[in-house]
Amino acid sequence: MPGHAVDRRGFLGQLGIGPLGAAMAAGLAVPGLAAEHPKPEAKYEPISDRKVRVGIVGYGVCRFGADFGFQDHPNVEIVAVSDLIPDRREGLMKACRCGKSYESLEALVKDPKIEAVFVATDAPSHARHCMEVLKHGKHVMTAVPATWGSVEDGEMLLETVKQTGLKYMMAETSCYHAACHAMRMVYRAGGFGRVVYSEGEYYHYLPKPIDSFNNWRLGSPPLWYPTHSTAYYVGVTGKRFTSVSCIGFRGTFPPYQPGANKYNNRFTDEIALFETSEGGASRMSMCTSVPGRVEETGRIYGERGWMEGTQYHGLLARLPNLERPPLPPGVPPGGHGGSHGQLTHEFISAILQDRQPLVNIYEALAMTIPGIIAHRSALKDGETMKIPQFDPPT
Ligand SMILES: NC(=O)c1ccc[n+]([C@@H]2O[C@H](COP(=O)([O-])OP(=O)(O)OC[C@H]3O[C@@H](n4cnc5c(N)ncnc54)[C@H](O)[C@@H]3O)[C@@H](O)[C@H]2O)c1
Repeated sequence: MPGHAVDRRGFLGQLGIGPLGAAMAAGLAVPGLAAEHPKPEAKYEPISDRKVRVGIVGYGVCRFGADFGFQDHPNVEIVAVSDLIPDRREGLMKACRCGKSYESLEALVKDPKIEAVFVATDAPSHARHCMEVLKHGKHVMTAVPATWGSVEDGEMLLETVKQTGLKYMMAETSCYHAACHAMRMVYRAGGFGRVVYSEGEYYHYLPKPIDSFNNWRLGSPPLWYPTHSTAYYVGVTGKRFTSVSCIGFRGTFPPYQPGANKYNNRFTDEIALFETSEGGASRMSMCTSVPGRVEETGRIYGERGWMEGTQYHGLLARLPNLERPPLPPGVPPGGHGGSHGQLTHEFISAILQDRQPLVNIYEALAMTIPGIIAHRSALKDGETMKIPQFDPPT
């Protein structure tokens, strides 16, 4: 917890040795006592004048279709929107200031003017909807997770992305939390070295279920929705989980009782321990039972330093810029810790610059699939299971 952080100087002081003595004793170069943390004045530099022609689908309980600021991005023209439910379709048109709509995603993807689609539909439809978009020659950004409880859907999705050569991005909000972004910058600058141990936690107290299309949320396996947590390792390091042992907790909420949900799921909370591809350990959880707690958070502990929140403690003397990139004028930072605007801008920039987005198909599967295997492990009382790997071609 940030409030409990003991900084390096304080810790060494408690041990009765100064930082110089400690560093010498450890055979290390003497690091700066407090890492410098530059905060340069951020100025947005436009990439291009071009407008990407976007379609938006899904205006459900979370109103996600309109919540990512596509309609406010200077490089976006919203061509059309869709939701199966007419009221929601109307609402999305209004929220996106768009005069055109289609009755379904399946109809919208046939519009030849649209180049890219934001899929903000129900989680069980994501993989199928993204493949439908890609097969119609359009780039796609999807709400999380990439697939819903199915490794096979992940394999098919990857094949489709490879075959079409189009951009695929998963809009994992934790990836652009200020802390997770700062950890990624520190990692890339060598401030952690190999990660010994990491933690990612998603708490969403659910005494009453949240509504959802065809009740997909009702009683669903917690770690089928793992990406807010797994982002705190995969989204920082780009490394992978290789095996898992997971414990499921049987809470008391009615949707998780025998026969009460279509998943035959009894677990309200799941806590997984992963082995990582660099020989470390990572604890990732999704908990619905803890009263009042609604938060996504994580920590990184490496051979060269550790971090919680945006406070770095370790051997890197001069930190890189840890601030998130500036957004184009008019694009709101948006919800989930100001991550929505960043995700939209990353997707649009990747199209304009013809490069891979941060959370491309490989990273998306590396954040999603381990949770599916973790749930299988929980069903077998924590049996250790291997995790299928989907690595990008080198
Ligand atoms: N922090 C986060 O990243 C975060 C937070 C909340 C929700 N989400 C994700 O956002 C997505 C949307 O969440 P929600 O609660 O609004 O979902 P929801 O289930 O309430 O709504 C889904 C909507 O998709 C529409 N839809 C389904 N199939 C369609 C089709 N073929 N064509 C057109 N419309 C179709 C439905 O009519 C419905 O209105 C979910 O996948 C969820 O996982 C992510």
